[in-house]
Amino acid sequence: MSFSSPSRSLRQDLRTTSQREFASYPEMGDLLYRRHLPRILVVDDQPAIAGLMSQLLNLRGYDVVTAASAEEAEAEIRRQLPDLILSDVMMPGKSGYELCRELKENPATRLIPFVLITGLSDSGDKVRGIDAGADDFLNKPVLAEELIARVKSLLRLKEFTDELETADSVLCTLGLIVEGRDPYTEGHCERLAVHAADLGRQLGLDEDSIVALKRGGYLHDLGKIAVPDEILKKGSDLTPAEWEIMKLHPITGENICRPLKSLRLVLPIIRHHHEHSDGSGYPDGLRAGEIPLLPRVLQVVDVYDALRTARPYKPALSHDQAAQTMRDEAGRGLWDADLVAEYFSMLERQRNVA
Ligand SMILES: [Fe+2]
Ligand SMILES: [Fe+2]
Repeated sequence: MSFSSPSRSLRQDLRTTSQREFASYPEMGDLLYRRHLPRILVVDDQPAIAGLMSQLLNLRGYDVVTAASAEEAEAEIRRQLPDLILSDVMMPGKSGYELCRELKENPATRLIPFVLITGLSDSGDKVRGIDAGADDFLNKPVLAEELIARVKSLLRLKEFTDELETADSVLCTLGLIVEGRDPYTEGHCERLAVHAADLGRQLGLDEDSIVALKRGGYLHDLGKIAVPDEILKKGSDLTPAEWEIMKLHPITGENICRPLKSLRLVLPIIRHHHEHSDGSGYPDGLRAGEIPLLPRVLQVVDVYDALRTARPYKPALSHDQAAQTMRDEAGRGLWDADLVAEYFSMLERQRNVA
């Protein structure tokens, strides 16, 4: 399944009407401060139960949609991402467990809190639910107060993760702005994000590492935000003093991103993308075995892209020239020779497919 990002416009419309409509409800206070009216998807094959829950939640000012099966739920999620899902376990067709597992495996939907509503008190079912990635459970028959309490706390959590995601994308946008200061690097971040993720997949890395590599593409040079234009645009022939300023950018970038837990795996990429296997790189002068894998992966893609791009002080190299240069430099102890070989065999395969 693949889901596109949510359209906010409908939610915004709803918020405007809801502010007027619900102004007299005492519990509306905290809801109105949200960016949009929280949208809850209720999945149950019994219309009476779905209807009752929907009514209860509606009364509290939530935007509720119902689905009578996992398949219907998936169609609804594709149409618009909900903020929370309440789902029955036993349903004809796909079960609530299966629906939950699929959504939790998909990066686009895994942060949506998923509550399983189980009619069975057997703890084995709860274990299955936890295994499928469910965030919480409710027992049937559902008690109104319990339902509202769970919904409230999970939505608070969701709002928090949404904010983190926003912070993430603000930083990636900043990365693009930094790139934009240097007209010769146009498209560099995006190409890096795509190719580093490809190389990560080729190496069989897990999904979290792939996501980190993609973000690394946008964020690796974020610290250049603190490097003055005249140094950034010079590119080569820096004076020793200018070079010292340039060499700070991995540390500056790491400091900017450090507060965000979601960027945990990206920090080493930012800090170490200029280290060399022989220890001659910066900022820490790490040697081959000490440089973590993800920065080495991004570095290979970064160096190739830089070689293939023309700059005021150097022409663009052809693919073959860039390959030869990188193999020579890997041999001299700059780059990870295995990763360089892996990258070129991947590019070769991609060229053959194209
Ligand atoms: Fe850099
Ligand atoms: Fe770069």
